[in-house]
Amino acid sequence: MLWPLLLFITLNALLSRPSSCSLLQRFEDLKRNDFDFVVIGGGTAGNTVANRLTENPNHHVLVLEAGGSNANVLVSIVPDFCARTLGSAIDWNYTAQTGPVMNRVVELPRGFVLGGTSSMNCMVYTRGTREDWDRYAHVTNDAGWSWDNIQPYVRKNERFTPPADGHDTTGEFDPSVHGFDGINSVTLSGFRHQIDTRVIQASKAMGNDSEFRFVLDMNSGEHLGIGFGQSTVLNGSRSSSATSYLGPQFINRPNLHVLLHAHVTRILSEETAHNGLTFTGVELSQDSGKTLHTVTASKEVILSAGSIATPQILMNSGIGDPNTLSNLGIRTLQRLPSVGRNLSEHLVFTLGWVVNANDTETEAIRNTTLAAEQLKQWNETRTGPLVDAPGLDLGWVRLPKNASIFEKFTDPSPGPNTAHIEIQFINFGGFVTDNPLADTIGVAPTLLSPISRGFVTLNTSNPFDHPFINLNYLDSEFDLFALREGARSARRFMAHPSFNGFLVSPIVNATTDDELDEFIKSNAGGACHPIGTAMMSPRGADWGVVDPDLKVKGVERLRVVDASILPFLPAGHTQASTYIIAERASDLIKASWS
Ligand SMILES: Cc1cc2nc3c(=O)[nH]c(=O)nc-3n(C[C@H](O)[C@H](O)[C@H](O)COP(=O)(O)OP(=O)(O)OC[C@H]3O[C@@H](n4cnc5c(N)ncnc54)[C@H](O)[C@@H]3O)c2cc1C
Ligand SMILES: *[C@@H]1O[C@H](CO)[C@@H](O)[C@H](O)[C@H]1NC(C)=O
Ligand SMILES: *[C@@H]1O[C@H](CO)[C@@H](O)[C@H](O)[C@H]1NC(C)=O
Ligand SMILES: *[C@@H]1O[C@H](CO)[C@@H](O)[C@H](O)[C@H]1NC(C)=O
Ligand SMILES: *[C@@H]1O[C@H](CO)[C@@H](O)[C@H](O)[C@H]1NC(C)=O
Ligand SMILES: *[C@@H]1O[C@H](CO)[C@@H](O)[C@H](O)[C@H]1NC(C)=O
Ligand SMILES: *[C@@H]1O[C@H](CO)[C@@H](O)[C@H](O)[C@H]1NC(C)=O
Ligand SMILES: *[C@@H]1O[C@H](CO)[C@@H](O)[C@H](O)[C@H]1NC(C)=O
Ligand SMILES: *[C@@H]1O[C@H](CO)[C@@H](O)[C@H](O)[C@H]1NC(C)=O
Ligand SMILES: *[C@@H]1O[C@H](CO)[C@@H](O)[C@H](O)[C@H]1NC(C)=O
Ligand SMILES: *[C@@H]1O[C@H](CO)[C@@H](O)[C@H](O)[C@H]1NC(C)=O
Repeated sequence: MLWPLLLFITLNALLSRPSSCSLLQRFEDLKRNDFDFVVIGGGTAGNTVANRLTENPNHHVLVLEAGGSNANVLVSIVPDFCARTLGSAIDWNYTAQTGPVMNRVVELPRGFVLGGTSSMNCMVYTRGTREDWDRYAHVTNDAGWSWDNIQPYVRKNERFTPPADGHDTTGEFDPSVHGFDGINSVTLSGFRHQIDTRVIQASKAMGNDSEFRFVLDMNSGEHLGIGFGQSTVLNGSRSSSATSYLGPQFINRPNLHVLLHAHVTRILSEETAHNGLTFTGVELSQDSGKTLHTVTASKEVILSAGSIATPQILMNSGIGDPNTLSNLGIRTLQRLPSVGRNLSEHLVFTLGWVVNANDTETEAIRNTTLAAEQLKQWNETRTGPLVDAPGLDLGWVRLPKNASIFEKFTDPSPGPNTAHIEIQFINFGGFVTDNPLADTIGVAPTLLSPISRGFVTLNTSNPFDHPFINLNYLDSEFDLFALREGARSARRFMAHPSFNGFLVSPIVNATTDDELDEFIKSNAGGACHPIGTAMMSPRGADWGVVDPDLKVKGVERLRVVDASILPFLPAGHTQASTYIIAERASDLIKASWS
């Protein structure tokens, strides 16, 4: 989830954690240039795979990360500052076209730092539903991706920890569906605001027959209703793949090598005896291409550069649609027209309200004394309002069965127990009001099951140029219909008496279909969850990029392990799915080489 907050507070380097000596800065510091595995991208998935593969002391693993260290990056560490990572030194700063309906250029943030996007996201922890994962299993013909079969990987990833304020969490989640021995911390809110309390109160008051019924744990596989949000936070600080999977107990493994500021340009192939293509080399540069280096992987290259850079690197390496590649003078080594296609993203917009409250994000924006106090409290005790992201509780709702749109479209959701729309409750809505000093909240309907698909392609043949991204939002009439109904659904919920005395006035008044359409087209943006650009398909299919074991189709020793392999968006934020993919992929890779 993305909150375009405009906060201007000078950040001092408040933390003095020594950066680990295992993180190498210069290619020359590498003691070798041949490894068993080379992982491209030290992001959410890449660090997970690197951790698991180095459990075997005989496996030497090199992680190549284009960005720098995550240590001491305050905007990344303090949960409430997550929105300030956008456009900062740890963002790739991609831009994307929205397509003809919205006809705008939007920013598309991605983490340019160790930990990748897990070092800059807003930490919401949602797994998607049972039906989401069962659909992945169904469309790939691999039962290994089903909800029941991914549960061991959920547990390997998740370490459920107490909230920062240590409060009793009984009734806020279902412990039986969580893991307590994994690596990445997940927790409940450590500081409740008025909005959070009232949302839960309203939901409980509406009863079990309501579309807004209270759901004890939205990560149980069935999420419909409204419940307490869970976040990847540990003791009041962000838990990312860099702080967890590359944490102090792992980073000094002698067989784990991490090179920062290492921009991968291409994966290099060699012809093998049986005439297949084997990818064993990785080309990188630390000076924007002036000097190129090569490292080799004797077992596999793992491509974990994320949904934008993974297809870019594949295409630069000659894997993609031959027409696209030949137009740029790139020789096609493996024809895979699906590379970069089927890009799918959640679209979200915010309905704001001016509220009668004194604990929204606005307070610290208008009062620098308060902001300094909050930061001091966080710095000294890791408690207070900065221990959570600005959005916590979440709702999951479906369009009614008799909605007119189903006369024209088959339901794109994976099943009757999965939401079409998520409603995010955010302790700030001020970016759309005339009065930036009013206390505001945001209620943000998010389209979980878009039909529209966009694409990522190369813009130039220079691997250091950004690719061309077209999100093609609202290409399908279904998507606009669902978002419109999402706005109505959110307003039905906010009309509950639990919000009396709290809501002062709506900031967005668009009501009719036309007004809502216009508002959505000019205000909606991405939730930063792109997937699909190296999608899985069944073994033997003539479409798709990777087989269900994540091996790139038709070539040897190259796997993609990141969010890009998902063929459909999950009905949830995408980091937990990415960790689950990486945990399962690690087992598949280990099995190939045992
Ligand atoms: C602002 C924002 C908020 C978000 N909020 C949430 C949220 O609250 N909850 C949630 O579940 N999800 C959220 N997401 C989405 C989620 O974080 C991502 O889906 C997930 O982290 C993607 O993981 P990945 O491994 O696919 O890619 P990444 O984590 O992005 O990893 C890719 C890595 O590859 C590196 N790389 C790229 N190109 C190269 C190259 N050429 N050479 C070397 N390295 C390279 C990158 O620097 C990066 O470290 C958010 C995303 C953003 C941007
Ligand atoms: C993104 O923009 C910020 C702010 O201008 C800058 O500091 C950062 O270096 C940019 N990121 C990249 C990868 O260039
Ligand atoms: C609502 O459902 C929950 C869980 O099934 C149950 O514990 C609770 O008693 C129900 N509440 C009412 C008012 O029926
Ligand atoms: C988190 O805080 C608790 C309580 O202070 C402490 O016991 C625990 O060790 C901390 N965890 C980590 C990983 O720092
Ligand atoms: C996109 O995905 C669908 C399956 O959802 C598939 O049929 C189609 O071939 C894919 N398109 C491309 C260009 O790969
Ligand atoms: C904030 O509002 C609450 C009631 O909503 C009130 O009890 C409290 O005194 C207020 N705090 C300040 C500092 O105004
Ligand atoms: C700003 O915050 C400080 C610290 O909480 C408080 O004492 C002060 O009254 C606030 N100022 C205003 C104008 O609200
Ligand atoms: C944060 O804590 C460190 C010591 O733990 C201290 O040096 C620094 O000044 C503190 N910063 C603030 C703003 O309190
Ligand atoms: C759908 O059904 C409900 C009652 O179940 C009814 O109130 C509503 O008008 C129907 N909507 C449409 C579009 O038919
Ligand atoms: C694509 O390349 C053209 C020409 O070099 C440039 O003007 C444009 O900004 C590039 N687009 C992107 C998205 O980088
Ligand atoms: C929306 O309506 C409220 C009154 O209900 C009004 O205070 C506000 O100014 C209106 N907003 C806009 C943008 O017209």
